[in-house]
Amino acid sequence: MTPTPRDQRPFDVVLVGATGYVGELIAEHLATKHRGGEVRWAMAGRSRAKLDALAKRLGPAAAGVETIVVDTSDEAGVLALADRTRVVLTTVGPYAKYGSTLLGACARTGTDYCDLTGETPWIQRMIDTWQSTAESTGARIVPCCGFDSIPSDLGVFFLNEEVRARTGAPCRSIRMRVLSASGGVSGGTVASMLHMIETMNEDPRVRETLRNPFALNPAGDRKGPRQPGGLPISWDREVGCWTAPFVMAAINTRVVHRSNALLGQAYGADFAYEEAMRTGGPVLGAPAALAVAGGMAAFGAAAVFPPTRALLKRFVLPKPGEGPSPEVRERGHFDLLFVGKGADGKSWRARVKGDRDPGYGSTAKMIGEAAICLAGLPPGEPGGGLWTPASAMGRRLVERLRTHAGVTFEMEA
Ligand SMILES: NC(=O)c1ccc[n+]([C@@H]2O[C@H](COP(=O)([O-])OP(=O)(O)OC[C@H]3O[C@@H](n4cnc5c(N)ncnc54)[C@H](OP(=O)(O)O)[C@@H]3O)[C@@H](O)[C@H]2O)c1
Repeated sequence: MTPTPRDQRPFDVVLVGATGYVGELIAEHLATKHRGGEVRWAMAGRSRAKLDALAKRLGPAAAGVETIVVDTSDEAGVLALADRTRVVLTTVGPYAKYGSTLLGACARTGTDYCDLTGETPWIQRMIDTWQSTAESTGARIVPCCGFDSIPSDLGVFFLNEEVRARTGAPCRSIRMRVLSASGGVSGGTVASMLHMIETMNEDPRVRETLRNPFALNPAGDRKGPRQPGGLPISWDREVGCWTAPFVMAAINTRVVHRSNALLGQAYGADFAYEEAMRTGGPVLGAPAALAVAGGMAAFGAAAVFPPTRALLKRFVLPKPGEGPSPEVRERGHFDLLFVGKGADGKSWRARVKGDRDPGYGSTAKMIGEAAICLAGLPPGEPGGGLWTPASAMGRRLVERLRTHAGVTFEMEA
């Protein structure tokens, strides 16, 4: 098929998976924040009845918003959908199970794309399969546009830009500390995480990919300098806190290194990056860090073995479509500290904060704004390919998030 020229497509953004837990929050954000036709958007899902019920719940704010029935396993259907919009925003996960045909359709039709995946092996497979097609059609494909990994990716980009403006060079290394965060977890996130663990059990190459900090770098460039971190608990002298592992570090660090590679080693060929979670000061921080690290190890072990995994799925974890209550989302927040070491040895700090819970309330706003930002990018800036949020949108997205998504980026004195 010959794709419809971008400027002749009826929609700026089509939200696929609108009827899921996070999909509905994104639809609410688009309907309320961008009411009035500035953004031409539509909602897509596999069930007509669920789409109609969603449109009814959204009420007048979504009046006139078209609804489209599509199953992401239907190749002809997703090609036709991709050809009607500048940007596809999809929440249909686990992406390794349900996402490949849609991403491929976007690459083939020159349609920009963003999603909420944190599934490293799948992203690597999509880079290797679709990079050259996307380059030739001009499609800008941007995975990881939620809490993993926008705040980390843009936090590092922001700090390095600020430090470069002041000193002429970026930081040699940066570490991120989650100072505080509160929220919950959805059934869709759990399903994606368990699916990744299942494939890791079946295929040793997936384990290899998950261990490599440079797994998402362009093919042929998946090696780099030794990276810091990895201890179950440690004392961060400069920040004055004990730390435990941060569950999102496994994807965020890979995205940050990919940004560095795609930006032409803008952070330096020897750039080092790590993330961890603050658990407290000298007295209470150590036992808290041990408790977090122990809890994560126990959960990991239970998720790896099929019998305990089945018990977790059945009795403990939320089901697809379920997630944190509106109160938990509303009360939630995140507060991230980025500490950089400048080329002159001086220490630099930046803070990234968000209102609402990171995984859903804030994620819905971040990806909604990323999609609108993509729709407004001039053709060729950047060219087609698989990108990261920082390498595709950089400062433009920082400003959009500040203005429309309640996310702040500040240098600290
Ligand atoms: N990166 C982040 O920060 C972040 C944050 C939140 C979520 N996520 C990810 O986002 C994804 C969605 O999470 P969620 O909690 O919203 O999950 P969910 O409630 O289970 O929603 C999944 C959506 O996908 C739809 N779907 C499933 N198979 C489909 C198919 N073949 N064709 C079309 N639609 C299909 C479902 O349709 P029905 O409504 O008809 O069932 C539903 O709308 C997960 O992969 C999760 O890991 C990431």
